Amino acid sequence: MNQFPIPNEKVIVANWKNNPATLAEAKTLYTAEIAAAQKYPDLKTVICPPVELVKELSEIDNKHLGSQDVFWQPDEDNYGVRYVLVGHSDRRYPAVGEGDSDEIINAKIRVALASKVVPILLVGEKNKDDNRELALTGQLSRGLAGLSSDELGRVLICYEPVWAISTNPDATPDTPSSTLEAIKIIGDFLSIHYTLSTIPYLYGGSVDSQNIISFLQHPEIFGVVVGGASLDVVEFGDVLGLASKLWNI
Ligand code: PGA
Repeated sequence: MNQFPIPNEKVIVANWKNNPATLAEAKTLYTAEIAAAQKYPDLKTVICPPVELVKELSEIDNKHLGSQDVFWQPDEDNYGVRYVLVGHSDRRYPAVGEGDSDEIINAKIRVALASKVVPILLVGEKNKDDNRELALTGQLSRGLAGLSSDELGRVLICYEPVWAISTNPDATPDTPSSTLEAIKIIGDFLSIHYTLSTIPYLYGGSVDSQNIISFLQHPEIFGVVVGGASLDVVEFGDVLGLASKLWNI
């Protein structure tokens, strides 16, 4: 059975999104990133390949395996996946077809919890000039609707403003101080509805080895979701090494 995270656990998530192009490349990248992760056993490293590759890659290793999506029914065989991204912008705002509403996101969080998989809920405003507080509180209230404090304690929350994601034109990472403001909005909202002492917040959006320390040096930030930079094993290895050194784990 998979283990839920302990509070205070430090988490680095690789979100490969739709990459790489072939299964062979994915196996090579996965094997190399597993080896990098094994150097830092006290760091929770999660690798999220495209959903269609999860089964194949689980045969290599599932200790670090995450998924980019979860489906509506608890699946008897989740291939040992331990974490799942829910509410990523690729799912909320897909290029084709209808995106996941907050209500669907809520259902996916429940399915993940019922399957003993840790949901990583991504929230964040779409455009830089959107009303951030409104966007965050709306996504949280609908996405987490009906969850108990105990259930929320098994969810990780990542602030990932969509405009900061590297695949968007003109993307720039959020500043750490602005990320802390967003985390405060999230924390204030959750403290009204839940009784929890520690919530492990992550940040996502153009994180790489150049800027990771500027985020992780703040104790409110328990980890990061790394997209583009996780496709380069040297870069991702650097991200893990820097996090491990900073946290002394
Ligand atoms: P990025 O992606 O690090 O390339 O900005 C993050 C994400 O999409 O989760």
